[in-house]
This record gives sequence, C-alpha cells and structure tokens, in this order.
Amino acid sequence: MRVIITDSYERMGLEAANIVAGQIYLKPDSVLGLATGSTPLSLYRRLIAVHETVGLDFSSVTTFNLDEYIGMEPDSPHSYHYFMHEHFFDHINIAPENIHLPSGTAEDMAAEGRRYEDMIAKAGGIDLQVLGIGRNAHIGFNEPDVKFEATTHKVALDEETIKANARFFDREEDVPRYAISMGIKTIMLARRVILLASGAAKAEAVSKTLCGSVTPKAPASILQLHQDVTIILDKEAAALLPKEIYGVRIDNYG
Ligand code: GLP
Repeated sequence: MRVIITDSYERMGLEAANIVAGQIYLKPDSVLGLATGSTPLSLYRRLIAVHETVGLDFSSVTTFNLDEYIGMEPDSPHSYHYFMHEHFFDHINIAPENIHLPSGTAEDMAAEGRRYEDMIAKAGGIDLQVLGIGRNAHIGFNEPDVKFEATTHKVALDEETIKANARFFDREEDVPRYAISMGIKTIMLARRVILLASGAAKAEAVSKTLCGSVTPKAPASILQLHQDVTIILDKEAAALLPKEIYGVRIDNYG
C-alpha cells in the first residue's frame, strides 16, 4: 500500500485527480470504478477542471459505480445516479452509454448483481477503482462482517451508516435500509485502487484499514492484500497512523 498524506481535503482530491488523469492519459479507454459520498467531491471537481482547462478526454472512458440505494428511482435527487450526474458526469464529455450504476429498482437483485458483474467483465474489468470509506471501515456498502468473496449483491445498511448518511436526507427515517453494492471480490479484482479519506471521523477506520488485522469486521482491511493500492488522506484522517507508516507527506504545498 502506498500512502499519501496531504494537508487538506482539496489537496487530497488533487492528488487523486493526478492519478485518475494519468490513468486516462495512458489508457484513454480506461474502465473506472467510481464512488459517491462527500469524500470524492474534491476529486471530481479537480477532474472537471482538468477537462475544462487542458481537455482531459473522457469520450472513451467507461465507468461503473460502486452502489445504489434499493428502491431509489434514478431521477430521485437522493439516488447515486443523480449524485454522479450532478457532481461529475454532466460536466465532462463521457458518453452516456458508457456510464453504469447498479439499478436500485430491479425486480430481482440477485439477477441485477449478475448482470452488473457481466457488464464489468465485458468491459474488460476495472482498471482503476476509486473508494471512499465509511466510519465503520466499509467500502462501497460492504458493511462489517462482510463476506470477502461476494460480488455485486444486495446489502443491509448498518445503523451507523444510516445515521452517517442521514445528512443527505430530510429525516433519518427516509434513509433507505438496503442497497445494491459491488462486493469485496469485485473491488479486489480492480487492477488499481485508490482510497480517499478526509476528516477526524475517518481516522479510526483508516488506522484499522492500514494497521489492523485483515478481518471482515473492518472490510477495507482486505485492501492490505491488494497488489496496487494508494491511500490518499488529509492530515486529520491520518492522525492515528504511526509515524513509520508514512509514505509520502505533502504538506503546505500547492
Ligand atoms: C457511503 C458510500 C461509500 C462512501 C461512504 C463514505 O455510504 N456507500 O461508497 O465511501 O459512505 O461517505 P462520505 O464520503 O460521505 O463520508
């Protein structure tokens, strides 16, 4: 695992954008795995800026998002479909047919999971997967006690996740209780992974991910076994890491 520690949330997004943009320059038809949440917003903002200023070209890029709430229509403002269009896809030149998210309204979630996995396989697999992390060290919506061998599947959200995501809804009761998410196996099959984390609320999850045992109780800890992972943090999210784990520190820069 490579670790990059930055001095701010914006700088975290910039470092991540450099990696994603580099991936697209080297392989214009890259397949990207994408995440929602507050964390990757600085990454998306930066990629939009690179597209606008130096013409980073997304026309051959294909994307697969990690997850979607079950029961959520794609045009609902609370859906991850909506979120991705609002914060990223509507601002770049990606072909609409190259955008993929699992359907939260499919009749049969097991069949939807298989369909999603088939589409990823047909696209040639994920070249670069972007991840955020939950306070309980979830990735995608793979909550503690996850099965590491799972592919895209229906998941029940943890109470902690429901509480954390309530900020996006009017009332906590409105947060869906289920989602469809890429599984840990889907994520582990990506050729490269970058995981972003920002803020003190993520420090414990980050510490468990990097320094703890590999355990289903901290789903992101499985990334210790992935061959090409870069963890990009702001200093608050890195606060509980021991000094000796520090890879690259980027302080007071840019
Ligand atoms: C959500 C998403 C994850 C995301 C995480 C953290 O529930 N399913 O993909 O990484 O929670 O969200 P945030 O970045 O808003 O803290």
